[in-house]
Amino acid sequence: MLEINVASSHPYSVVIGSGALRKLPELLDGVVRVAVVYPTVLSAPAGTISALLQANGVQVLPLVVPEGELAKTPAVVAALWQALAAADFTRSDLVVGVGGGATTDVAGFAAASYLRGIPWVAVPTTVLGAVDAAVGGKTAIDLPEGKNLVGAFHEPRAALVDLELLRKLPEREVCSGLAEVAKAGLISDPAILRLILEDPDESRDVVSERFAELVARAVAVKSAVVAGDLTERTSLGTMVGREQLNYGHTMGHAIETYEHFRWRHGEAIAVGMVYAAELAAITSGLSAETVALHRDVLRLLSLPTSYSAAPYEALRALISRDKKTRGTTPRFVLLDQLQHPVVVSPTEDALNTAYQRIAL
Ligand SMILES: NC(=O)c1ccc[n+]([C@@H]2O[C@H](COP(=O)([O-])OP(=O)(O)OC[C@H]3O[C@@H](n4cnc5c(N)ncnc54)[C@H](O)[C@@H]3O)[C@@H](O)[C@H]2O)c1
Ligand SMILES: [Zn+2]
Repeated sequence: MLEINVASSHPYSVVIGSGALRKLPELLDGVVRVAVVYPTVLSAPAGTISALLQANGVQVLPLVVPEGELAKTPAVVAALWQALAAADFTRSDLVVGVGGGATTDVAGFAAASYLRGIPWVAVPTTVLGAVDAAVGGKTAIDLPEGKNLVGAFHEPRAALVDLELLRKLPEREVCSGLAEVAKAGLISDPAILRLILEDPDESRDVVSERFAELVARAVAVKSAVVAGDLTERTSLGTMVGREQLNYGHTMGHAIETYEHFRWRHGEAIAVGMVYAAELAAITSGLSAETVALHRDVLRLLSLPTSYSAAPYEALRALISRDKKTRGTTPRFVLLDQLQHPVVVSPTEDALNTAYQRIAL
């Protein structure tokens, strides 16, 4: 079992490994009632968790939410609040969110807002949920006007990543989540890249030790970056704070939007990272070998590395809407060398040329 401590205003542990759920009883100090929030597809693990809780003498309130992103609505949160109130939940009770990042986001937000905050535990069942949503304490729901527009910072008491729960995850979901793991390798941790290059097949096997180490290392990277930049200030000079987690996301978000969110997030940021590498080769002296390494690592994870479906002008317009943009000048997180992120405002020429290089 691997355990990473997330240093934040309320420090907590992310426990990773087969059987991580066995840690749940240790988190029940004084708890009388536990609400287990999950989508139908995760009924089996939710049942296991409920049985474990009941065996430890707590009352269980099962709360089914819609699948994935469909749960991140004000209506679903209101239903969760009312169910908690009807069951007399108090601040000494607990919410457990079981699912992908969407489910843990809505469960965490319900816990953050009910009675101005009750404790919660994240049980992520996707790779993205484990390495991204479970670290950093952000919880949120969507509005018709945009994603994640309403939310709160509310750290879980712990995140339990039981790799047995990821066994039924479709291969495409696993690979998409591994894009964020590869990102952590490119911006910060060379061991991640080595682990993937050494054995790409085992890297996608969710119950392998290699996979557990990859998840743990990605969690450690995000945790260290978030701890170093708790207030989410923007970069100062050459120091890059939380923004570096956005590596590959400027072009990635533009593609996601252009494709009306039919692409998985990780697939879009994979292309975005190759674009960032090409841009860095033009503006920041990134070596051709490192650009090639981006393509190699992502291909080994069956992730896309090129994109030509959109006219350049359409993507350029979407990039202007990125939250890092100041005025009309887009700002990109780039690498001037491997594991060394910098923030750069490239010229229009560079932006265009880099697109020609990924539009193969
Ligand atoms: N809070 C944060 O800091 C943070 C960070 C990154 C992403 N997010 C959020 O995370 C969400 C994306 O997370 P995601 O990629 O995990 O998507 P998701 O939560 O939508 O899950 C993807 C799909 O897989 C299903 N699923 C989940 N676990 C499964 C399993 N073990 N077996 C079979 N099917 C399973 C889900 O029900 C869903 O249909 C977005 O809403 C995003 O905003 C939050
Ligand atoms: Zn991302």
